[in-house]
Order: sequence, then C-alpha cells, then structure tokens
Amino acid sequence: MNLLQVKTLMVRIMRLNKILTFLFLVSCYKIVPAETSGFPDGYYDTVALVLLLVIVLIFAGFIFYGTGEGKHKPAVKRKSIFQLSFVNKYITGSTPIEKEGEILLQDDYDGIKELDNRVPPWFNYLFYGSILFAAYYMLDYHVLKTSSLQEAEYAEEMAVASQLKEELAKSGTFITEETVTLAEDPALIEKGRQIFNANCVACHAADGGGLIGPNLTDNYWIHGGGIKDIFKIIKYGVPAKGMISWQTILDPAQMQNVSSFIISLKGTKSANPKAPEGIPYNEDAASEPVAEK
Ligand code: HEC
Repeated sequence: MNLLQVKTLMVRIMRLNKILTFLFLVSCYKIVPAETSGFPDGYYDTVALVLLLVIVLIFAGFIFYGTGEGKHKPAVKRKSIFQLSFVNKYITGSTPIEKEGEILLQDDYDGIKELDNRVPPWFNYLFYGSILFAAYYMLDYHVLKTSSLQEAEYAEEMAVASQLKEELAKSGTFITEETVTLAEDPALIEKGRQIFNANCVACHAADGGGLIGPNLTDNYWIHGGGIKDIFKIIKYGVPAKGMISWQTILDPAQMQNVSSFIISLKGTKSANPKAPEGIPYNEDAASEPVAEK
C-alpha cells in the first residue's frame, strides 16, 4: 500500500465514522422498545456502547496517526453527501466562494463591503431537519402511535413502579417493628429455625433454653413476648447486654421468620432451661413491651 492508498482508506474510515455516529444516536433513542422488538432487555444499550467504543477508537486512531491532512494535502477530494453540489444548490442556495464577486453589494461602508448571501447552510439544515423531524414525530406519536405520549408514558412508569413496590412488599423489605406480623406458614418458620441455628444458638442454646442470652421457650420476657417486641429486639439488639443488633446481617423478612420461630418455641421443653428472666407475658393485655431495658 502506498501513501495515497492509506490516505484514501483513512478518508473512507472517517466517512464510516459518520454513519456509525448516526447509528449510535439511533440506538440511543431505542426506536424499537425492547419488549416488542424481541431483542433482550438492554440490547440497544449494548449496541450503543459498542458503537460508541468503535467511534471513540476510530477518533483515537486519527488523533494518533493524523488524518493525513495538514502537512500533506490528501490527494483525494473529500466529498460527503452534505457537500454534494446539488444539495448545496437546492437546499442551502449558497454561492460557492469562487463566485462571491457576483453577489458583492456595491455599498461601501468605510471599506467594509457586504455580500448578498443566502441564509447560512447550517441554519438551513437545521430548518429542514426540524421539518423532517416534525413529520417523523407526527407519524411516530400520532399516526402510527408507536411511541406513547407523555400521559401514557407516565401511566406505564407508574404501573411498573407499583408492580415493583408490590414485589418489594412481598419480599418483606418494608417490614418494620410497627408492621411485622406473625408468619404462620411452616415453611417460613422452618426458615426462621435455620436462621436461629446459624446465628443465635451460641447464646440462646439450640432448643432456645438460653445460655448467655435468656430462655426463649418460657413465658418470661425481658422486653415483651409479642411478635413486634421480639422483632424489635432482634432488629436493634441490646448491645449493652451482649445481644447485638441484627438489622445489618438479616433482612426484614429473615427477622420476621426468626421472630416467628421464637414464638413457635413457646411451651416447648428445653433440655437445660435457664431460669426465667423478666416478667410473664400476657398476650391479650400487652401490646406494649412489658419492660423497657
Ligand atoms: C452474643 C450472644 C447472643 C447472640 C448471638 C444472640 N443473642 Fe439474643 N440475647 C442475648 C442477650 C444477652 C439477651 C438479653 C438482653 C437483655 O438482657 O436485655 C438477648 C435477648 C434476646 C431476646 C429478648 C429476650 C427477652 O426476654 O426479651 C430475643 C428475642 C433474642 N435475644 C433473640 C435472638 C436472636 C433471634 C438471635 C439470632 C439472630 C440472637 N438473639 C442472638 C445474647 C445473644
């Protein structure tokens, strides 16, 4: 390959880059929504990213190697479609520099002369571009209705959000000591048992009879024996007494499960029960913790 061929190639690559840039903008806009296009979610994001990468790489290549212009004029005459003479003639109506003499006005303001030129090409491109865009916009939003209008878009987003909220609520993310309820599903209580075995037996004994921590099988509670009381103690702990806060380790649903498991221990016989601590818990009378400490 001689120098001329290299330069020709570079000019071609540069032209390709324009097309790539256009494709990039199109893929950013995601004309076809992922759900209806059959392509997987995020497909257009990936396409856009890859295109952007290629574009950047090509530009980087040019910065590194130069376009061949400057010191040596390229032998190839560059002619993009926007420089085609008929486009210039009919769309911009601009006068080529060589013929400027013909449109020079006769008035002379202290040596400053005026060209009777047409509107600048960039302005015309913008103008005709906006007309094309308007046509496209009307087709897209009002005739074919492929894109949703503002209100519909809002409703769609709200629907997605409420679905997400429902899923989050189901996953237990919103459970707090105010809203927690007793889980009665044996599968959830079993989950609670596993959490208890993994985290709590060192201090409360495998059967809940108590070691360092109090007996969880009797009806005596230091902080109250309701599901909300137990959840709260597990969540915040009593650090001063050696019961740590579990909210950074267990998620709310897990804390609900283990609380429910502890309630299910009530009345079971522990092999080596620790002496009762606190005061008897009366389910009907007490909705508030029996003792605050
Ligand atoms: C490092 C030891 C330790 C571990 C581990 C531990 N606890 Fe405790 N726990 C304690 C102590 C000590 C207390 C008593 C706090 C007090 O006197 O206020 C306690 C109290 C409690 C109480 C309140 C009892 C009452 O009478 O009001 C509950 C419920 C409880 N723990 C559940 C758990 C659960 C569930 C786990 C596992 C996720 C766990 N604990 C892990 C030491 C521990």
